[in-house]
Amino acid sequence: MARRKMVAGNWKMNGARDANAMLLHDIVFDAKRYTAVDMVVCPPALYLESVGAALTGSSVQLGAQNLCEQEKPGAFTGEIHGGMLKDVGCAYVIVGHSERRALYGESDEVVAQKFQTALACGLKPILCLGETLEERESEQTEIVLGRQLAAVLARVGANGFKSAVIAYEPVWAIGTGRTASAEQAQAAHAFIRGELANADAKIADSTRILYGGSVKADNAQALFSCRDVDGGLIGGASLKATEFLAICAAAQ
Ligand code: G3P
Repeated sequence: MARRKMVAGNWKMNGARDANAMLLHDIVFDAKRYTAVDMVVCPPALYLESVGAALTGSSVQLGAQNLCEQEKPGAFTGEIHGGMLKDVGCAYVIVGHSERRALYGESDEVVAQKFQTALACGLKPILCLGETLEERESEQTEIVLGRQLAAVLARVGANGFKSAVIAYEPVWAIGTGRTASAEQAQAAHAFIRGELANADAKIADSTRILYGGSVKADNAQALFSCRDVDGGLIGGASLKATEFLAICAAAQ
């Protein structure tokens, strides 16, 4: 099945009002050239409404970087409910990014709860899966990816992936400039798709699996040409309009 490519920019904890406006001006101006690509930007939560306003009238969609796993809003100081993200115009929400798993102790189960809450709030989850260098070097990659995916499948079933996106982000490639080779990415994506196919072959075939981890303008083409790579989840390069747009061009 031909899956429509997606390029999503994860700004992480970066941005400021003036810099955001300049970045978005250039992205929105060129976005109409990439009609074959679903373009998404995921700013820090504080900027979601202003970034959403800047995207009005363009094909670029808005995403958040995280949400609270609680199904209902209420007494959870500092947290953000998925319904609020929907309310300010988010279509997507990143769930289970490795930085949240590693730095903020998000377990596979909490990630699964966040995924389920995102669906309940009408958001499309971008589920991040990925192994550490130590896990790869000790040949545990497929065990780790399988375990992370299984936790979400156990909670939402294969149908929960109908509107979701998966992002394979090897932790050792994030922010390091050490991008996975096309062969490594394809092998991991094919494994993830195979695991999903064990639950539902049709949903597995239609689910987009993005690659994330030091994607740049000069390596995007090779990665995106892989059979099971349906685009990218971009960190550092999403903060530079020319780089982000060049990656979108590679997906076109
Ligand atoms: O979520 C995407 C991110 O983890 C990748 O970061 O800077 O390696 O593109 P970067």
